[in-house]
Amino acid sequence: MHAVVLVGGFGTRLRPLTLATPKPLLPIANLPLLERLMASLARGGVTNAVLSLGFKPEPFLRAFPSNSCAGVKLTYAVEDRPLDTAGAIGFAARHAGIHKRGETFLVANGDVLTDLDVSGLVAFHKSTKAQATIHLTPVEDSSQYGVVETDSQGRVLRFVEKPSPGQTTSRNVNGGTYIFESSALDRMPGVAPMSIERETFPEIVKEGQLFGFATNDYWIDAGRPDSYVRANIDLLQRKSIHKVEAICSDSQIAKSATITQSVVGRGCKVGENAQILGSVLLEGATIDDNAIVINSAVMGHIGSFAQVNDCLIGVDGEVRSGAVLRDAKVPDAS
Ligand code: GDD
Ligand code: MG
Repeated sequence: MHAVVLVGGFGTRLRPLTLATPKPLLPIANLPLLERLMASLARGGVTNAVLSLGFKPEPFLRAFPSNSCAGVKLTYAVEDRPLDTAGAIGFAARHAGIHKRGETFLVANGDVLTDLDVSGLVAFHKSTKAQATIHLTPVEDSSQYGVVETDSQGRVLRFVEKPSPGQTTSRNVNGGTYIFESSALDRMPGVAPMSIERETFPEIVKEGQLFGFATNDYWIDAGRPDSYVRANIDLLQRKSIHKVEAICSDSQIAKSATITQSVVGRGCKVGENAQILGSVLLEGATIDDNAIVINSAVMGHIGSFAQVNDCLIGVDGEVRSGAVLRDAKVPDAS
């Protein structure tokens, strides 16, 4: 099966990390998110994927020099301006010749990690003869997602992207993995910006051709500061089913440092008595003596006796000695 994987967004919410590395290439427990996503698509029968790119295509080309990722053969469709989700799908699918093959294909948001069995989603899609099927997942606060209401058979009755309070009571949201018949591409010409969530899905709903398939599998959108850190820490608990190197062997960690429920990337340095808790140190991060890092992701440098809590520190980020930061982005990337 062919897949379109959407990786062309700006990753705004994860700045400043994404100023250095596009969101899908950020590591989750020391393996690029995209590699974990591709491995799960491959298990479900995906053999070929077109990466739908816009912002910063070069790092992707460099990351997969053999044009293969987790055994999936890659091609690249680079937009010359952001086409939004449906525009991007239409453009990339044509680029990869999917429209001509007339086959069922898959689309995935490039920032989702899930244990969904993709072959089960495909089987459900075929059983309903729908034009499109969305994977649904339950969440506590649905306001940041596309909320989906279905009937008891799974037919979608309503799709509301990022609803305002009171607009819907459903807790099932769009999980960002879709199965489409190629006929759906007629709705997505791929020549101008168009949103799958705000335009295409509501249109297919009107024709009764959109279904939802809800599962309780592990699922997270790693595209926000808290969820990016959480996706990393969650994997430490899910070691039995996923390849995880929590602490890279070439990192230098002082004997008196404590690393608790955290991930340490290649070449990181952690000084004497430093404490790292529920955090992600990305490749090359340096944490000086006696610094404390809690619930944060760090690419740059934390000075001695500094304390950072719920922070994102970019590759050029410098937290000076003794500073106390909470909910901050360094450098400020807003
Ligand atoms: N090629 C391309 N071009 N890709 C894009 C563009 C574009 O113009 N805009 C966004 N993308 C990609 C992003 O890189 C990301 O992989 C995916 O489309 C979704 O964009 P996000 O910015 O991550 O959207 P979201 O998380 O706010 O909401 C989406 O995902 C939720 C589930 O995680 C929506 O699909 C929601 O309905 C859904 O619930
Ligand atoms: Mg997202």
